[in-house]
Amino acid sequence: MTDVQLKELLAEMSLGEKIEQMIQFHGGFYGDVKLITGPGHDYSVKPDQQWRIGTVLGEAGYEHLKKLQDGFMEKQPHHIPSIFMADVIHGYKTIYPVPLGQGASFDPELTKELAGATAKEASAAGLHVTFSPMCDLSRDARWGRCMEGTGEDPWLNARFAEATVLGYQGDGIEKQGNIAACVKHFAAYGAATAGKDYSGVELCERTLLDDYLPSYEAAVKAGAPLVMSAFNTINRIPCSTNKWLMRKILREKMGFDGVVISDYGAVQETVVHSASYDKADAAAKALRAGLDIDMMSDCYLSYLEEQAKESEELRQLIDESCLRVLELKNKLGLFDNPIRGSKELEEAYFYCDAHKELSVRAARESATLLKNDGLLPISKNSKIAVVGKLATSTNIVGSWAIFAEADKTVTFADAIKSRYPETEVFVYPYDEADEKMLSGCKACDVVIACIGEEDFKTGESKSISDVTLCPEHQALFNAVYGVNQNVLSLLYAGRPLAIPMLAEKSKAILDAWYPGTFGNIGICELIFGDANPCGRVPMSFPHTTGQLPMHYSAFTTGRPVENWTGYVPFASNYMDVTNVALYPFGFGLSYSEFTYSPVELSADTLQKDGKITATVTVTNKGTRDGKELVQLYIRDVKGSVIRPCRELKGLTKPFIKAGESVTVSFDITEDMLRFHNEDMEFVAEPGEFMVWIGGSSLTQNGVNFRLI
Ligand code: NOJ
Repeated sequence: MTDVQLKELLAEMSLGEKIEQMIQFHGGFYGDVKLITGPGHDYSVKPDQQWRIGTVLGEAGYEHLKKLQDGFMEKQPHHIPSIFMADVIHGYKTIYPVPLGQGASFDPELTKELAGATAKEASAAGLHVTFSPMCDLSRDARWGRCMEGTGEDPWLNARFAEATVLGYQGDGIEKQGNIAACVKHFAAYGAATAGKDYSGVELCERTLLDDYLPSYEAAVKAGAPLVMSAFNTINRIPCSTNKWLMRKILREKMGFDGVVISDYGAVQETVVHSASYDKADAAAKALRAGLDIDMMSDCYLSYLEEQAKESEELRQLIDESCLRVLELKNKLGLFDNPIRGSKELEEAYFYCDAHKELSVRAARESATLLKNDGLLPISKNSKIAVVGKLATSTNIVGSWAIFAEADKTVTFADAIKSRYPETEVFVYPYDEADEKMLSGCKACDVVIACIGEEDFKTGESKSISDVTLCPEHQALFNAVYGVNQNVLSLLYAGRPLAIPMLAEKSKAILDAWYPGTFGNIGICELIFGDANPCGRVPMSFPHTTGQLPMHYSAFTTGRPVENWTGYVPFASNYMDVTNVALYPFGFGLSYSEFTYSPVELSADTLQKDGKITATVTVTNKGTRDGKELVQLYIRDVKGSVIRPCRELKGLTKPFIKAGESVTVSFDITEDMLRFHNEDMEFVAEPGEFMVWIGGSSLTQNGVNFRLI
């Protein structure tokens, strides 16, 4: 449709019909409930009104959605099609590593591929929009949803956010095989106070702008046509009624002209928050704040029309919001082609070989080797004991894999047996060590302890107050360690757990995150040396929960402590634990050993419109080929406001053959050095900077340059 036709359509619609377009219901209203989250509801839906509602949440499957769309086309008075949206977060049927695991790959291009493959399956199943990427920066492992994001770094998060959008949307959201992205949760949901889900966010504006917003902005700039407002407050105002956030920041500053949809029930929750007097007030506030679609509350449905009849201003805002929804439908090509997918496409894509291969590869790229005292890779001739319930569990795909089928998930025990049938493996798939397990472990060369947390223990509303490895798994580890010290701790987790005991006693630790449907095959390939680990820590591993929130790019203090070896009185440190992470951001081992030359700069001054190039030579000193994650960090030594002690600004992951070297260069330009200064201007300040290039955020080969 042309813009004129869309406006003509709008003009033909009644006020009630316009409001109906601004509402999202889940499938329960259509006789099939798949997943209900959040508070219950008792809307007063008029007979057949569900068929006039603008969009549907959480339903999928070609035949099912076709039937639904036929209903909309027939019963909506103007034959306006619905949009089918769902949480397809890291795979639809074939599940890939959780976003935090993808973050550990430090490979946004890979994520783009995964999002592309996800879109093929989701689109085959009739979906138009996914509620992804989740761009929420998280520095607190207590927050259950940190596994839905790609970690603690603003720059890296932004790269993943844009890659995900580009992957989903491919060569156009109107085409079969692509889906539209909905950027969430706007904004700063990951900064929930004390890591408690749904709690308020207390951030200074500068931290919000410099650290938390870049990832959403990158996703918006990559072309995402929807943004979801978050449950939390910003400046003590719920995001879904926060005019400053949605109109000033999102629309004006970031230039977003698409649809803003609330999170589930978030508009009505503003009443519970005590930020709106009642549902009518919530509806008017949300609309004035710039919220177009009310997901799963009856604020817009039941309380907007009466108010709008009395208010020209509200009627105009309704026109604007409804038009945005119609424009989105148009961009999705739904007026011409309301139905996506087919039975044939579902059959062609679900669990196809290409997606299986991708799932295995992605797990290989994301698994992170945290410790290796010569145990890995394990010889295929070894006798291996595998212990722990997680060894045979299918709960290793992530809690958002809502369309996945458990019987397709390859467990670790299945993977090892199918991929390495010649190897002698004894599986004890339970968490309480008994005599049989212990005598089995004793008789083996190596014990693989599958420990961590099942995937339903992380995700939405799964915050915890203590991120230490659970007592049952500590006990399991200690029991097997008592009879055999060659223990590989194979971690499955949706967060960086506090594992100081494992760090001390394990011979090796490999974090598989949640690797997805076929990912365990890739994990086995790493363990047996058919692949070389290259995943890195995307979110700092604390020694103790008390260190949280933490991030490598901490701000400088007036009383710093460098190289903590014990408590320093009247300095910024704890009496009982160091300031740094157990495993810091960017850290990860390989079966190769990489060394770095000193950093060389092409010049020691950077002109405002110029560039300087920082170069290192990276050498693979090992005997195996491997990929090394080369990371560029920069520090603004003095600023008009306190600056982070270093920030990631670039990366590359070259494949380096054993014994060979590669030269890696990064260009540094003024725009990479910008931040919100004392006057809240986004600028780079002239002065001294330091630059490091290395294999983790602790790398120490810094050199200086000046911006003039
Ligand atoms: C609530 C979650 O916060 C959000 O991430 C999700 O997309 C919606 N529910 C829809 O399921």
